[in-house]
Amino acid sequence: MGKIRKAVIPAAGLGSRFYPLTKAQPKEMLPILDKPVIHYVVEEAVNAGLNEILIIVGKGKESIINYFDKHELDKLDISGVSKFPEIFFVRQKEQLGLADAVRYSKAFVDDEPFLVLLGDTIYKSKNKTPVSKQLMNSFTKTDKTTIAIEEVPTEKIRDYGILSGKELPNKLFRVDDLIEKPEPKDAPSNLGITGLYALTPEIFDAIDRIKPGKNGEYQLTDALKILAKSDEVFGARFEGKRYDIGTKELWIRTFFEFVKGDSKFNHILDNL
Ligand code: G1P
Repeated sequence: MGKIRKAVIPAAGLGSRFYPLTKAQPKEMLPILDKPVIHYVVEEAVNAGLNEILIIVGKGKESIINYFDKHELDKLDISGVSKFPEIFFVRQKEQLGLADAVRYSKAFVDDEPFLVLLGDTIYKSKNKTPVSKQLMNSFTKTDKTTIAIEEVPTEKIRDYGILSGKELPNKLFRVDDLIEKPEPKDAPSNLGITGLYALTPEIFDAIDRIKPGKNGEYQLTDALKILAKSDEVFGARFEGKRYDIGTKELWIRTFFEFVKGDSKFNHILDNL
């Protein structure tokens, strides 16, 4: 299948879980310390060696495009990377769901495997290898669509794509079936899709075949289900921590965790 060289970052969702905070600004531009969330996501891709990045924006997301103007790029804190990424943008015409957003990357991807990083999720690796690079390493072994997975608490199952299948060596998992945001009682396991995907271009045909699913949206999970049935899909565990910024509570929690972990800012907490 070849090597992954390109990253796609969907950042087109409405952010309705954040209202009124996101009525006039994208959730991807919410700060974590002194940088917006999307900055961390781009750094994650670049640190994994991906220098061609497509960000899929939508209505009201112009500030993301402004943020990545050249002078802002110069400030990217990207250790050990000599080349700044080339960042492209495409605008989803209607907010019809994650699978529909990914569909807009077809021309950019051009028949190569690619990495999808959600614009509202940050990863911190527990070893020297960025989490997205860990997934790319797993993809090198499977040569098939491979998605980052981790156990989610029972009460959170309805917030995730959940999968079933078989545990394999090397932190891999063979996926038999996937279901988007099931009720805990209907979930086949507690293994969740964390929002980092190494996809093969076959995903585009699968996306063309799905119908609107959970919440009336085109779900990437449903396209992956088609691939799991017609070909092979793998899950891969990773060594690291995932910070989901998808709700107000999670964002505030992440913000404080980052404050606590940063010597420049953690004194603020002492005086609260
Ligand atoms: C999306 C995916 C879901 C995945 C989740 C991870 O949902 O549809 O399968 O588990 O990201 O954050 P969202 O959080 O955008 O509703």
